[in-house]
Amino acid sequence: MLTSISDVRDMLATQQYIASDEICTAMFLADRLGKPLLAEGPAGVGKTELAKSWARAAGRELIRLQCYEGLDESKALYEWEYAKQLLYTQLLREKLSDLLGDAKTLREAADRLANEDDIFFSERFLLPRPLLQAITSEKPVVLLIDEIDRADAEFEAFLLEVLSDFQVSVPELGTIKAKHQPTVLLTSNNTRELSEALKRRCLYIHIDYPTLEAELRVVQLKVPGLAPKLARQAVELVQRLRGLDLKKHPSVSETLDWAKALVELNSRQLDKQTLDTTLSVLLKYESDIQRARRAIQGGSGGGGGGGGGERPDRGDRPDRPRGGYKGNEWSN
Ligand SMILES: Nc1ncnc2c1ncn2[C@@H]1O[C@H](COP(=O)(O)OP(=O)(O)OP(=O)(O)O)[C@@H](O)[C@H]1O
Ligand SMILES: [Mg+2]
Repeated sequence: MLTSISDVRDMLATQQYIASDEICTAMFLADRLGKPLLAEGPAGVGKTELAKSWARAAGRELIRLQCYEGLDESKALYEWEYAKQLLYTQLLREKLSDLLGDAKTLREAADRLANEDDIFFSERFLLPRPLLQAITSEKPVVLLIDEIDRADAEFEAFLLEVLSDFQVSVPELGTIKAKHQPTVLLTSNNTRELSEALKRRCLYIHIDYPTLEAELRVVQLKVPGLAPKLARQAVELVQRLRGLDLKKHPSVSETLDWAKALVELNSRQLDKQTLDTTLSVLLKYESDIQRARRAIQGGSGGGGGGGGGERPDRGDRPDRPRGGYKGNEWSN
């Protein structure tokens, strides 16, 4: 049982997860109020990792439902094992003919068979998918419903019963209630609006890119081989790149990849050659790489006609770096 917000921070820290005050408060309240937590935010900011770290820290199994377009109940909740049912009917052929052999009419045979069909629609032939696994688990688990925005709106509607009552209905078996209420985390990249009904059932947190100091701690924890000064310079550069008008800003996972790359390459400083050769670890669009290079070398970052294809309004953005990256220092 959690008693304070700092319990959450300490638990996550044991798993090398650096959590902001907002994240710790949201996790604490989700636990205390027994509500699912919906974490929304850009790619690679640690939404999925939050659930994984929480499960490890709490010593609970993580059950993950990865959402995608077309996901339906048979993949999320349960499926009848038709192949097994068929196999059983073949193996039980003799018993079935005993049962049906002396039936006078087809209707009588069908009625007798119907009396037995609860054998075939019993838990023996039920294949539990993640939601049912989470609900029927003998121990409390962490249920991660990842990237819910990728699933269809109908699937969201179907989730409501699970999220509000922690129970599911299987027509042949009735309602199955959770033995232990799972800790539920939903994530979304915000590619579409989620329904009001879903949001109402959840607590909500927007996870954004971390602050410089938080990201630096993540890098220091997860890439300890990177020299502290270089780590700070690398994170500073990433933070500044996020101020540029790019198609895709570098995420924490890309910062970590870059930090690992710098270690592998034995880099001592962020000189021009290192940047030229490794920027593609951080940025995955050629136009972003070009734009970042111009910003790093040229000072203004290309606003107001600094290079072909720049948008004229970009030079006015207050959050963009004004200076250029010279040697290993940004100039203003
Ligand atoms: N606060 C953090 N503390 C520790 N590691 C972090 C943190 N944030 C991100 N990471 C690291 O960044 C990487 C990406 O995190 P994760 O996969 O959870 O992102 P995500 O938000 O789920 O992204 P996507 O939307 O693309 O699925 C992971 O390797 C994770 O370890
Ligand atoms: Mg994720």
